[in-house]
Amino acid sequence: MNIILLGPPGAGKGTQAQRLVERHGMRQLSTGDMLRAAVKAGTPVGLQAKAVMERGELVSDAIVSALIGEELDQMGPQAGAIFDGYPRTAAQAESLDEILAVRGRKLDHVIELDVDEDALVERITGRFTCANCGKGYHDTFEQPREPGVCDKCGSREFKRRPDDNAETVRTRMAEYRAKTAPILPIYEARGIVSRVNGMAELDGVTAAIERIISG
Ligand code: AP5
Ligand code: MG
Repeated sequence: MNIILLGPPGAGKGTQAQRLVERHGMRQLSTGDMLRAAVKAGTPVGLQAKAVMERGELVSDAIVSALIGEELDQMGPQAGAIFDGYPRTAAQAESLDEILAVRGRKLDHVIELDVDEDALVERITGRFTCANCGKGYHDTFEQPREPGVCDKCGSREFKRRPDDNAETVRTRMAEYRAKTAPILPIYEARGIVSRVNGMAELDGVTAAIERIISG
């Protein structure tokens, strides 16, 4: 199965993708995570992407589509893919069709997380992740069970993203509205879009996604 999780910054794409990975052994393909890894490693892609990401703008279509192709090639052909934060432009949507077709894959679902933008700044500014395993948390909505210790791997180190500040979030939302939301009709025309209330509590969102992919 190949699914796209679509929604603005802070909608819950990464959180729900991690849950699908745990439940179904699918692979999360997050271009944001891939780019952050490239920035950290100081690769040529990372050097190009760093300032763009700090401004909250979009990295070039060619770079992210290449990253997605490489990642798919590293997965077994049977493993399901969850596209998180990709595609984000009409050009990327077109590339994804080709990337999947040449690998004998097809898109099964596009799941749109429908959220109230006003709530997203709080979600994003309260977000932190485990520095070791990447498990996501939130100051208010999802604290580690034992304070200061990661539920998943026991690490005591956490980190916050440099682009998770109120100003950059506004640019990221504007980019979403201008370039990403307009790709929905491409998938609506194929009859594969489902809408989920992303303002529901975390387990409710997960249950709604489960109903879609099992139905
Ligand atoms: P990316 O990493 O993709 O960031 P984003 O799209 O801005 O989305 P986020 O990761 O901020 O949000 P999310 O939906 O994953 O929310 P999360 O689950 O963490 O991209 C970063 C940058 O990289 C871009 O700005 C761009 O520069 C570049 N880039 C990446 N992909 C690109 C592409 N394809 N093309 C070009 N450039 C690209 O949830 C947020 C918080 O809320 C968490 O703390 C979570 O615990 C909490 N939360 C989630 N759901 C709920 C809920 N239902 N109730 C309460 N709290 C919740
Ligand atoms: Mg994310």
